[in-house]
Amino acid sequence: MKGIILHGGAGTRLRPLTFSGPKQLIPVANKPISQYVLEDLKSIGVVDVAIVLGETFPELVMQHYGDGSRFGVRITYVNQGKPLGIAHAVYLCKDFVQDDGFIVYLGDNLLQNGVKNYFEKFLINDYDCMVLLKEVEDPSRFGVAEFDDKGNLVRLVEKPRVPRSRFALVGVYFFKPIVFEVIKGLKPSWRGELEITDAIQTMLEKGFRVGYSIVDGWWLDTGKKDDILYANSLILDEYGVRSIRGELVESKVDGRVSIGEGSKIVNSTVRGPAIIGNNCVIQNSFIGPYTSIGDNVKVLKSSVEYSIVLEGACVESIDRLEESLVGRNAKVIRNTARNSVRLHVGDYSEIEL
Ligand code: G1P
Repeated sequence: MKGIILHGGAGTRLRPLTFSGPKQLIPVANKPISQYVLEDLKSIGVVDVAIVLGETFPELVMQHYGDGSRFGVRITYVNQGKPLGIAHAVYLCKDFVQDDGFIVYLGDNLLQNGVKNYFEKFLINDYDCMVLLKEVEDPSRFGVAEFDDKGNLVRLVEKPRVPRSRFALVGVYFFKPIVFEVIKGLKPSWRGELEITDAIQTMLEKGFRVGYSIVDGWWLDTGKKDDILYANSLILDEYGVRSIRGELVESKVDGRVSIGEGSKIVNSTVRGPAIIGNNCVIQNSFIGPYTSIGDNVKVLKSSVEYSIVLEGACVESIDRLEESLVGRNAKVIRNTARNSVRLHVGDYSEIEL
């Protein structure tokens, strides 16, 4: 089995963070989202992995993953360039896949329990394709499955206005190489993309064996800020550990809190689950649950909860910073000597005062 991680897309809903990197590299619990994907593949023994790059900072993806040896895998990079659809991206990997079965994993999808059980089901049943489904509140944001009375999967529709079920297509797909023949015959959808949903629909129509599994545990497609914060809380809940390597001075650290090397917590309280990277300074502050703080961050005279603060940022004199995503090297500072608000804000930033 081979693996394909899709790492393209413009990430418009995550601006301004995607002005300086692809959305899949945004860290959740201090680790890029697509790294969870890569580690999941590795954990099921898939070590030949293609990463399909888009137009948003592909060089940062290559810089982070390199040849894969750091992660115990072999990585082949495939350039997609313009976002012409998931099926288009998959087709570009034809030479990489050759005659093997393969798993396509969208680099911004996270699954609580990983893909192990589904992978085994795909192999045991010898399907031509297997999809994963999850019941959601707002199916029209996704590809949606339709079933007949007997529970057989009969149709898949991409982002239907009137969904026929609440089962969304999760961004993980298992295929045999026969899918390449099907993709060859596809026409672009209304959004100008070759849709993987259409490819699988065609497989159903042509009588190929398409199986499905309902995902247990949570599944997240991390397309916007609130999804990222939610993913952060779930990952910290699931994997947060207590590990204190930094220095504590007159400080209290409760529960599953990880504090990196060279970090100094002074006259502060940290309540887990939370993670603080290396070389941070947390002083006269409160770091609340579900917070991830990257390396080289300063939090001074502030309270931060249910938030992500990325590398090199500084938060100072902010009473309650909550549900916030603070970008790299950003400064969020209250100037107590002034009554006015002074901003130097990047394009597409959002500020709620
Ligand atoms: C893509 C697929 C969609 C699927 C979703 C899962 O949507 O086209 O069928 O439900 O991923 O994350 P997109 O991210 O392109 O909007």
